[in-house]
Amino acid sequence: MNMNVIEFNQVSKSFQYHKVLSDVTFSVAQNSVFGFLGNNGAGKSTVIKLMLGMLNPSHGEIRLFNQPVKQVLPAGFVNIGCIVDTPVLYENLTASEFLSFSQRLKNLPRKEIERVLEVVDLSAYKKQSISGYSLGMKQRLAIANTLLGSPKLLILDEPTNGLDPQGMQDMRELLKYLPERAGCTVFVSSHLLSEIERIASHIAVIHGGEIVKQDSLDNLKGTSGELRISCLALSKANVVLSNANFHCSSDQDGDLLVSKVTREECAQVHHLLSKNKVDFWQSSFCQQSLENVFMKVSHQKAAS
Ligand SMILES: Nc1ncnc2c1ncn2[C@@H]1O[C@H](COP(=O)(O)OP(=O)(O)OP(=O)(O)O)[C@@H](O)[C@H]1O
Ligand SMILES: [Mg+2]
Repeated sequence: MNMNVIEFNQVSKSFQYHKVLSDVTFSVAQNSVFGFLGNNGAGKSTVIKLMLGMLNPSHGEIRLFNQPVKQVLPAGFVNIGCIVDTPVLYENLTASEFLSFSQRLKNLPRKEIERVLEVVDLSAYKKQSISGYSLGMKQRLAIANTLLGSPKLLILDEPTNGLDPQGMQDMRELLKYLPERAGCTVFVSSHLLSEIERIASHIAVIHGGEIVKQDSLDNLKGTSGELRISCLALSKANVVLSNANFHCSSDQDGDLLVSKVTREECAQVHHLLSKNKVDFWQSSFCQQSLENVFMKVSHQKAAS
């Protein structure tokens, strides 16, 4: 059965008279990587703090593992790993020594340390002092620390902040496969679209404290794209397709652009052109990038 690990139901949050979240509703399915996307100040960290019971909502309901968040606390929190601020690591220890604190605290067998080091790909460095680690390695070690005890949910606030391209790529690889490798649902916030686009299976976009978009990555990107058609009889093609309610325009290269089409509709366009004897020598579908989706919703929001 596919259950929701996190549920926000019409959650609002105000600080004094300043409303920072309005009617935030979303759910995170088990074993998904859920990307929470928003600009600086959009409300990402506030949502995470509410999720962890560090703040109370002004209105609405928050459930973790199908229970009100307050009931999950504190025993249920062994099922949750989180990294909210820059993690504190003891730099003069080795990775193994550092992890042994949590391992003993959580009363876990010592082999758990080996397992989590393997998951974050740090086994080869386990005997080296943390002080010599790159920032990316430190971030992965922090994740290894939270993975001790096999939490069912990992919550990360901007884990790629400050990482170099290699560090980002390592983090991407790690997060993307955590559900598979560690049986863990991942909730990850970021203001970096390109990062989220590459790791998340589901996405919510928050803007000015409101969720403006929420869907699977495939649906978000796949809902529409642009079909570019190269043909001679441009005006005829335009008439044929416009009559069938397609949005057409032409670009400076003299190609016909059919916007907001799904893949299925592309097939219809081809069929209509052939049926009306409009020859075309090239047709290419360009799926909308998440960046386009994001820019559009941000602009729509700003205009409203
Ligand atoms: N404790 C607080 N008291 C008053 N206002 C707050 C408090 N915490 C956050 N805010 C305000 O709430 C809004 C959302 O902040 P939040 O930190 O959740 O944004 P964010 O999306 O995490 O941004 P960033 O990308 O910069 O981390 C901001 O306008 C912020 O100033
Ligand atoms: Mg934040």
